[in-house]
Amino acid sequence: MGTFKLGYIGAGFIAKFQMKALQSVRGIDLVGVTALKGAEELAASARSNGVGDCKVYPSILELCNHCDAVAVFAPNFARIEIVEQILEAVKAGAPLKGVICEKPLGRTVAEAKRLVELGKAMKLPTAYFENQIHMKAITAQLAQLAPQQRSMGPFMLARAAEEHAGPHEGWFWDPTKQGGGVLCDMACHCIAACWYVLTPLGKPVDFLQPVSVTADTALLKWGQPQWRKRLLDKMGVDYGKVPAEDFATGLVTFRNPENGQLVRGQFTSSWMYDKQGLRLSMDALGPGYAFELNSLQTPLQIFIGDEAADAVADAETALEKSTASRGLLAIEPNEADLYGYTDEHIDACRAFAAGKDAKLNWAYGLEVTKLCQAAYMAAERGKTLDLTCPQVQKDLDGYVSLIAQGRGGEILFGKRL
Ligand SMILES: NC(=O)c1ccc[n+]([C@@H]2O[C@H](COP(=O)([O-])OP(=O)(O)OC[C@H]3O[C@@H](n4cnc5c(N)ncnc54)[C@H](O)[C@@H]3O)[C@@H](O)[C@H]2O)c1
Repeated sequence: MGTFKLGYIGAGFIAKFQMKALQSVRGIDLVGVTALKGAEELAASARSNGVGDCKVYPSILELCNHCDAVAVFAPNFARIEIVEQILEAVKAGAPLKGVICEKPLGRTVAEAKRLVELGKAMKLPTAYFENQIHMKAITAQLAQLAPQQRSMGPFMLARAAEEHAGPHEGWFWDPTKQGGGVLCDMACHCIAACWYVLTPLGKPVDFLQPVSVTADTALLKWGQPQWRKRLLDKMGVDYGKVPAEDFATGLVTFRNPENGQLVRGQFTSSWMYDKQGLRLSMDALGPGYAFELNSLQTPLQIFIGDEAADAVADAETALEKSTASRGLLAIEPNEADLYGYTDEHIDACRAFAAGKDAKLNWAYGLEVTKLCQAAYMAAERGKTLDLTCPQVQKDLDGYVSLIAQGRGGEILFGKRL
């Protein structure tokens, strides 16, 4: 394929990270960016890193007119308004071949359904960016264990956790803007990763049918008075009034529609992981075989003593959400690649160039949103949710969790034991 021209909408944390991933990709240029803040800096950085002759555009319409595809890297609360503008641009003749959207597709099932509708109205291929499914470690374990899967049967239990010490911007912490707390923000990765790993080789990503969800949400650290104050001072969000969960865990049961076998995915996410920085951990067990992954077990460690600590510029260049700048530090030499950002770009742009959806499309993103919202509902109701029940599916369509409504105190404070 010739050089594929990509544009970013949003120039914050993830746009910068994704731009780093593009440094390792051939055939895709970042040619434009539009954002409320940070676009000039991102464009300059893209140009100086050889990622493309990136220009700043004043509007989504202008950006769409100069790209083969655009990626929505803006906050969750701006998704619909942004994708509506992309649709307008397409209707006005913008030559797009596809549209990418970061996780989560929606803050509610209704929002994710609206995104899918808008995607259909654009009549364009879509990509839902769930990076963990594209991690090279996941691809490699699947390839390595393919003979075992074939002879012994697929994985039966997958466990995935994503944890760090808390997000970098106030809107993530505000459940009415973000869509909830850590479950909406990070358990979407874990649920998708479990579903994918459990899927028998060669079957589509939505082959296994989710049949039930059980979950628990809790506010373990950031609801304590001293941490609430820290959050209010630093991020302007008051967890005394509008709390969100900083810990979520649960189980999703999936059914193999061909043989009825039930398999389970166990997810855990937290914003109270006060260790070195972001940790992704996953493992899965098949009959007679297994894999295990821990993103903090790095091939590189450095040591910075107290006397030398003043010289540390930015610990986050070493590790996402880094919490320390001295002592023995874990370094990830190529985080963007480790987390799957490189491969998700390649997958999406190659698919769009061929006129197809990416491996994960927006319809898939909607299913992941449904599972996350089902987890909130299960935690609120204090029981396992039967996803095969038509009434539960109907309830999910109009559901906004108490936490996302700003009424998290009703479930997170003085919660039943
Ligand atoms: N895959 C991952 O691991 C991962 C990691 C971080 C964030 N994300 C997702 O990426 C998205 C963005 O997160 P972030 O951390 O970059 O946020 P951020 O707040 O750091 O940056 C948001 C950017 O979007 C811009 N923006 C806001 N409203 C806009 C609008 N209406 N039009 C155009 N630009 C607008 C802002 O000016 C800023 O440049 C979120 O949906 C988040 O869930 C994914």
